[in-house]
Amino acid sequence: SAAEKGGYDYFMLKEIAEQPKAVADTLLGRIDAAGSLTLDEVRISTAELREVDKVVIVACGTAFHAGLIAKYAIEHWTRIPCEVELASEFRYRDPILDPRTLVIAISQSGETMDTLMALRHAREQGSKVLAICNTNGSTIPRESDAVLYTHAGPEVAVASTKAFLTQLVACYLVALYLGQVRGTKWGDEIRAVIRDLSKISQEVERVLKTMEPVRELARSLATKNTVLFLGRHVGYPVALEGALKLKELAYMHAEGFAAGELKHGPIALIEKDLPVVVVVPSPRGRSVLHDKIVSNIQEIRARGARTIVIAEEGDEAVAPYADHLIRIPATPTLLQPLVATVPLQVFACELATARGNEVDQPRNLAKSVTVE
Ligand code: AGP
Repeated sequence: SAAEKGGYDYFMLKEIAEQPKAVADTLLGRIDAAGSLTLDEVRISTAELREVDKVVIVACGTAFHAGLIAKYAIEHWTRIPCEVELASEFRYRDPILDPRTLVIAISQSGETMDTLMALRHAREQGSKVLAICNTNGSTIPRESDAVLYTHAGPEVAVASTKAFLTQLVACYLVALYLGQVRGTKWGDEIRAVIRDLSKISQEVERVLKTMEPVRELARSLATKNTVLFLGRHVGYPVALEGALKLKELAYMHAEGFAAGELKHGPIALIEKDLPVVVVVPSPRGRSVLHDKIVSNIQEIRARGARTIVIAEEGDEAVAPYADHLIRIPATPTLLQPLVATVPLQVFACELATARGNEVDQPRNLAKSVTVE
């Protein structure tokens, strides 16, 4: 009913709007007065966590994209090697698992059969499994050794939005916690990241207030057949997520690429007026990446692409090559997906509406996929 949708036309719009609160709620109560993470709910002993020599993340769809981003944070903050694998592929290739492997299963519903089968396989090999899940008491957390719940609240729309942002927050917390337990990240550094994370809730709010031009742009592209998405570093999984949202909601051909791969093939797809969304890393910090993506944008624009550029406020270097410029607040590099994904969600939702599609219940899809 309209009341359930809180005055929004679709659950998806309501859930997009709830993201600042969802992000804040997922952080709540997980840091003590001294600035240390208190993840007591993660019932894997610190002794066991110190022994971990490999992290393997398994998940599907949007949760898999959260896992891809988590890899950057986990490896950067803990120096533990991390692999990310589609849950549906995992157990069929006889993966190398032992008691020192920490498997993280990410799932909004906690009922996804592919993810469940992957974690069962991991536990049979003696690995510890930590679930990151949004649904209390669902099957995946029940069958895991430990669980870190995301506090997004119920997600009704088939297209995952607020669950994704909270999965990212939970992954950052796990990465920092591993760092804390193993001594690669300490009080001050953890406090600094938590401070940045706490601020991000307001930044997401700010992004949401500037979405009208994105909606307008989406409507203007309603008759297109294809949209491409490019990104680098954590912007690459964001590009994959933008493409997935567009596929499931707008039923358009959408594909995400690592921008550096362009010249290895995908650039052949570029033709006049093809919309290409580019997620640009911050010019601060990893400026090498930034400069490389600016030249990627130039390359595709020279071949006629219509460039839709998502870039940090104050990043003037990209402006001349952007046919459409979507501004996002400046954030630390690893946290950028929390703000960069939001315009892509709005974009896909509005395109779906403009094409007359059912936003909350896309064709052929179910909210949780309980068959393999
Ligand atoms: C996301 O928009 C999709 N509907 C889908 O990819 C989803 O993320 C995937 O099926 C995994 O679901 P889960 O998080 O409930 O396990």
